[in-house]
Amino acid sequence: MTDLSSLQKEIQEKLTQVHDPKVLEELRVEYLGRKGKIADLFKNIATLPNEEKRQFGQALNQLKEFAEQAFSEKTASLENQGAKTDQSFDPTLPGVSTKLGKLHPITRTIREISDIFVRLGFEVVDGREIETEFYNFTALNIPLDHPSRDAFDTFYTEQGHLLRSQTSTVQIRMMQSRKPPLRIIAPGRVYRPDTMDASHSFMFHQIEGLMVDDRTTFSDLKGVLHVFLRTLFGDDVKMRFRPHFFPFTEPSVEVDVNWGKGWLELLGAGQVDPAVFKEVGYHPNKVQGFAFGLGVERIAMLKYGIKDIRLFYENDLRFLKQF
Ligand code: PHE
Repeated sequence: MTDLSSLQKEIQEKLTQVHDPKVLEELRVEYLGRKGKIADLFKNIATLPNEEKRQFGQALNQLKEFAEQAFSEKTASLENQGAKTDQSFDPTLPGVSTKLGKLHPITRTIREISDIFVRLGFEVVDGREIETEFYNFTALNIPLDHPSRDAFDTFYTEQGHLLRSQTSTVQIRMMQSRKPPLRIIAPGRVYRPDTMDASHSFMFHQIEGLMVDDRTTFSDLKGVLHVFLRTLFGDDVKMRFRPHFFPFTEPSVEVDVNWGKGWLELLGAGQVDPAVFKEVGYHPNKVQGFAFGLGVERIAMLKYGIKDIRLFYENDLRFLKQF
């Protein structure tokens, strides 16, 4: 019995000296573990004379309960202190901010331009980047001997396909699959085997526009383009139409803009050539329409004052973060 009360004191004293949870656990194993001191004492019961067994057993149970209680209180108090004194968490430090991604300037420009045409009732449609000669040339009234069919101006695959060199392919695909009236724009990538320099890239973006109805005149083209350019560059923008030639429009023009920085060539356009209508099965005497094609990089460079087209494709964050 004296052993038991001195063991109790021993536990009490040791617990007051513990400040480290690891040491506390070692102590707990020493006293309360399966092979610990208290478990040993339980084994002794069997060796005692019968009349002492009951009293000793009760006292030993009390000691065990006391020890369990004391250890769990100590564990709780150490955890509590730990939370208060833990230096690794400082609630006054500023938070870690999340780095948000941004839209690429080309994507932004495409969306900005598309929004303007959507407000004018145009629908944004998609085309294909891998095309056939038919959609890239033949159906667009580009004859077999036209220089742009040369391998030098178009990427051809070995299986007789090509990477489209213009988004005008989408004009054909849309007219083939829908009946007039039609009002679409088609943004996307085009490919031409140009040597890369500050103003050329073998891949760039165009936005094609096409409007067809029973009566869609050249004035409609002018009106739509004027609203578009004013929205994009401001009310003071001036626009100029220069006669040009495209095999799939007649008459054809190149459109220049000037918003105080001199005249800049911006897009090609014209009235859809009757030969194209015939090709897609529209009656050339019953429908009329216009088409235009503009270079997205060109417009983005003008808008943001970018001097070198290659900056768009290099994924340099110092450049991209500015938008
Ligand atoms: N596809 C022509 C080009 O890439 C642009 C264009 C489109 C011209 C539609 C007229 C009508 O240069």
